[in-house]
Amino acid sequence: MKIVAPSQAMQQWSRQVAQQHVLVPTMGALHEGHAALIRRAREIADPSATVVVSIFVNPIQFGVNEDLSCYPRTLAADVALCEKENVDFLFYPTVEEMYAADASVRISETQLSQRLCGASRPGHFSGMATVVAKLFNIVAPNIAIFGEKDWQQLAIIRRFVHDLNFPIEIIGHPTVREKDGLAMSSRNAYLTPEKRAVAPKIYQALQAVAAARATGEKNIAILLMAARMALEDIPGAMIDYIEIMNEETLAPLSEISENSKPRLFVAVKLGETRLIDNIALHAS
Ligand code: PAJ
Repeated sequence: MKIVAPSQAMQQWSRQVAQQHVLVPTMGALHEGHAALIRRAREIADPSATVVVSIFVNPIQFGVNEDLSCYPRTLAADVALCEKENVDFLFYPTVEEMYAADASVRISETQLSQRLCGASRPGHFSGMATVVAKLFNIVAPNIAIFGEKDWQQLAIIRRFVHDLNFPIEIIGHPTVREKDGLAMSSRNAYLTPEKRAVAPKIYQALQAVAAARATGEKNIAILLMAARMALEDIPGAMIDYIEIMNEETLAPLSEISENSKPRLFVAVKLGETRLIDNIALHAS
């Protein structure tokens, strides 16, 4: 019998006995951003490993006034995309299967989830972390891939995997954009042609701030003001938040120093559609 004491060694041991799996969790309405995550999964997996995509529109991560009932559901197209990308398993559970009527346990992350989208969407990250924990337990992947478009989500997952000793490597994948710069999102389907036409200005605003930072601007207030002015210029845009944070701790920054890893985060409503985006304000 092997007696394993440190949790890390235990994790490594249990990994060796588990079959290799790479998981890409999604809510469906798959687009090129999701496809890029799936291709990344294929690339990094051992040739013998399996790639699992989950599709589950998770009710507990939507607020009461949010878009759960009209969230795009495009199963046939999603199946075709997964087949094209050589996915081994598509996990597609029902709500009843995932949440028993008497379910009463939630995961709550208490620091990273407080600001940005956590402040505007109370309960969202707890619902998200709870379903991801369930998916991790069900699929038992040893690698899971998440997009940097949802940077705060990725940071919370990294923290939660670390704090709860999930033996899973989390990989972040860069944001995939439309040709005009708009970050791909299942929610872009809600945009009217008018709003879709101005939506790329969100990324243009982020790029302008990153350019100002790259040419030496260090003053956070000035960078935030530049972002605000550019976003306020977008016809019909309602700003939810504009913040510059340390990208790992998601702590707000009062100044930019060598190791502060600044990242700009914005959320903007265009009509009824809430869009988020982020950009690094540091070189590496
Ligand atoms: P969903 O919005 O479907 O996104 C699934 C994954 O795709 C997430 O990791 C997200 O960050 C990534 N993604 C979406 N658009 C992207 C883009 N343009 N570029 C790169 N990656 C992109 O995020 C969720 O679902 C849910 O919260 C989930 C994690 C599945 C839990 O329910």
